Amino acid sequence: MGFTTPFTLVYASPGKGACLYKAPRGTADILPAEQGYFRYIEERAADICQRYGYERIDTPVFEDARLFIRTIGPGTDIVKKETYSFEDRSGQGMTLCPEGTAPICRAYLEHGMYNLPQPVRLYYFAAIFRYERPQKGRYRQHQQFGVEALGEGDPALDAEVIEMAWRFFKSLGLRKLSMQVNSIGCRLCRPAYLERLKGYYSQHINQLCPECKARFRKNPLRLLDCKKPSCQDVAAAAPKSVEHLCPECREHFRSVGRYLRLLKVPFKKNHRLVRGLDYYTRTVFEVQPQGEEGAQSALGGGGRYDDLIEEMGGKPTPAIGFAVGMERIVLNLKEQGITPPAPEAQAIFVAYVGDEAKAEAIKLAAELRRAGILVYWSFGSKSLKAQMRQANVLGAEYTFIFGEDEVKNGTVVYRDMVEGEQWEVEVGEVVALLTQV
Ligand code: HAM
Repeated sequence: MGFTTPFTLVYASPGKGACLYKAPRGTADILPAEQGYFRYIEERAADICQRYGYERIDTPVFEDARLFIRTIGPGTDIVKKETYSFEDRSGQGMTLCPEGTAPICRAYLEHGMYNLPQPVRLYYFAAIFRYERPQKGRYRQHQQFGVEALGEGDPALDAEVIEMAWRFFKSLGLRKLSMQVNSIGCRLCRPAYLERLKGYYSQHINQLCPECKARFRKNPLRLLDCKKPSCQDVAAAAPKSVEHLCPECREHFRSVGRYLRLLKVPFKKNHRLVRGLDYYTRTVFEVQPQGEEGAQSALGGGGRYDDLIEEMGGKPTPAIGFAVGMERIVLNLKEQGITPPAPEAQAIFVAYVGDEAKAEAIKLAAELRRAGILVYWSFGSKSLKAQMRQANVLGAEYTFIFGEDEVKNGTVVYRDMVEGEQWEVEVGEVVALLTQV
C-alpha cells in the first residue's frame, strides 16, 4: 500500500554520520544509560502492586476515539487540543491513548470482570500521548504506571489507594513530596456548587486570562487550577467544593481523612485541586514536589470516578485509581541524587588469537551463557591488546584468553582484570569455577 500522507522529503546533505531524521518534537529516546531508572521504577511499582493485590493488565495503544471524548470530557484541554486522532484505513476514528483509565474500564466491561470478586484491582504501564507544548517534564509521549480498583465505594479504599501511591514514592527514596487531597462532590451536589462558583467568578471575569474566560462557560471547575498569577489570586478566594458537599459526600471525605490519619499518610487539603479530566467524583488527589504545589509538576494523581463505568454502558460501579508519570519521577530522582542500584551481573570477556582459538572462544562463550553468565567477546580479528581494551571498557571482571598453546592443551588463560593476575585452567573447569560460591 502506498504512503498517502502528503509530505516533502528533504534530501539534506548532512555531515558524515548525521541522520536525516529526528525523534518527533516532545518525544525522547530512552537510551540504555537511562533504562536503569525506568527498570527501578517498574520494579518498585510491581513490588507494591503485588503487596496490595493488583494484577497486571495491558490494553491497546489506540482505542475507538469516542471512548475518550465521552469519558475524559469534550470540554477538557486533552480532548479539545491534545489527542492524536486519526482515521484508520477503514475510516474508523481512532485515538492514541491520552490516559489509561478509560481503556481499563472498557476492558472491565468487555471481559465481564464485574462477575469477579470486587474490587477488581488492576495495574498497567502504558505509553500515553498528548499533543502538549513540550517543556521540562512535559512530553508528547510519556510513560505512566497506573492502578485502578473497580467495584467498591468504601472510603477506606480511597485511603488505601492514596496510601499505596504514597508508599510507592517513598519506596523509590524520594523526599520532599506533598500529598494533596480534595473532594469535588458528586453529580447531586456538584451542580449547585458550580452555580456558586460561576456566581463568584462572574464578579471577577475581567481579571481572568482568555482561556479562563472560555472555561467560565464550558468547564468552570477548571478555573480553580489555572496557573496564571492573576487567575490564581481570584481562585484563592473562590468558594470551596468541600464546603458545598451533600451529606453523603461530606461523610465520605471525612472518612477518607480519618483513614489516612490511621494509615499515617501526611496529606494537605487543597481546595483548588480539581484535576484535568471530567470523570472524577468525590476524592481527588495529587502528589507534588514540595514547594511546587499548584505548578504543573505533579508526579502522579488520581481519584474516584464512580459514574464512569455507568456512562460507558455498565451498571453503576464505583471505582478509584491513580497514575504516575515515569519521566517526571526520573527527573526528580536525578534532582535528588538517587541512583538506581546497578544490576549485579558479573561480566566475562572471552578473547582469542587465531582462527582455531576463535572457535574455542565461541564454544566457551555459549557454554557460559547457558550457565546464566553475562559474556562478551569480540568479532573480526582484533589484536589481543585491542580485545583487552574492549574487555576493560565493558567492565569485565575476568577475561578468558585462548591462544595456539591453550587450544593444543585444552586449557585457557584466566585473567583477573581487577588484580591483574592470571592462571592457566582446564577449559572443562571454567563453568564450575565461575558458578561455585
Ligand atoms: P493525569 O494527572 O492526567 O491523570 O496523569 C498522571 C500523571 O502522568 C501526571 O501526574 C504526570 O506525572 C504524568 N503526565 C501527565 N501528562 C504528562 C506529560 N505530558 N508529560 C509527562 N508526564 C505527564 C491520568 O492520566 C489519570 N488517568 C490518572 C487516574 C488513574 N485517575 C484515576 N485512575
